[in-house]
Amino acid sequence: MKGPIVRMSGVGMWVPERVLTNSELEKMVDTSDEWITTRTGIKERRIADEKTTAADMGARAGLAALDDAGMAPEDVDALIVATATPDRLLPATACDVQAMMGAKNAVAFDVWGACTGWLYGINIAQGLIGTGQARNALIIGTEKLSSIVDWKDRSTVVLFGDAAGATVVVPAATDGRGVVATYMKSDGSLGDLLFRPPARGLNPSIPIDVVALGEGGNTIKMAGPEVFKSAVRSMCEAAEIALKDAGLTAGDVDLLIPHQANIRIIEATAKYAGIPMDRVWVNIDRYGNTSSASIPVSIYEARACGRIQAGSVLLLVAFGSGFTWASAVVRW
Ligand code: ACO
Repeated sequence: MKGPIVRMSGVGMWVPERVLTNSELEKMVDTSDEWITTRTGIKERRIADEKTTAADMGARAGLAALDDAGMAPEDVDALIVATATPDRLLPATACDVQAMMGAKNAVAFDVWGACTGWLYGINIAQGLIGTGQARNALIIGTEKLSSIVDWKDRSTVVLFGDAAGATVVVPAATDGRGVVATYMKSDGSLGDLLFRPPARGLNPSIPIDVVALGEGGNTIKMAGPEVFKSAVRSMCEAAEIALKDAGLTAGDVDLLIPHQANIRIIEATAKYAGIPMDRVWVNIDRYGNTSSASIPVSIYEARACGRIQAGSVLLLVAFGSGFTWASAVVRW
């Protein structure tokens, strides 16, 4: 088997200070701490203030990752931002982040893969570095999901939170450490199960006053139980394929880091993959679903508390709107 092309040389994260607890949500919509905890595993989430955008959060996480890698913003060759909550539709959020960070020598672009976006970004960075088009890449997942949920809809508002996470990737050495396998997939035929209509409705040529956006305007619409089933099926598939490609088995995995969408999805994926929960990273209780930020934030925290060490084998798996899904095996 060929060796890894890239390794992760720096990780960073940023979350807003404001914590929104389940008991606060009980006062806003018809829900309960007990329902949210048992159905999702979420106890609290972070919410950014009005002035803080996804680009602001991404730039802070990106600078932290560069600092961790011992790099300056001007050193970045490729700046890839995964987000479902861009500050504006033009230009790319990555370009705003580039300007904020002063990463003036980079090519900057967005990846629109919802919760899977950061893993797609790792794949793209691997291709850019592997073909010699970049010497390094900064991949940021940043989301201000609080800005696109319907705050009156109990079925979605309890699920999401705001956060940003980032990693730097550089060429791997010959010691076998780095990204050893990756897998990506999507199925656009299931896009209507989890989507957000555009602000001007599904037909932008119709004047906005006659556009029917449905309940809640242009906020997230989700068929929860259908998404749940697809998420489990797809994450299991992705886990199996990446492990096989890496020539490893579940027993070799030191830490499964799944996208933090719902504790029951995480538990089902771990069970199917044959990985006990004591080798599964969970922080959904503190952040909720932060979409593309959830895996890089998890990597940052897991390393900070010693769960990731040199040589640790990580299995990263994500699923999101699209539907999109992807996985990676990393030997740290
Ligand atoms: N509080 C109290 N009751 C609620 C709430 C709430 N916040 N939300 C829904 N309910 C009610 C429903 O109205 C329904 O009531 P009814 O039986 O009287 O009709 C009941 O709870 C059960 O609703 P279900 O939707 O069947 O509940 P389920 O057990 O499927 O849990 C959930 C819902 C948590 C949304 C689950 O389906 C889920 O997690 N799905 C996946 C969601 C997800 O992960 N999305 C993102 C993945 S991709 C990405 O990250 C972007």
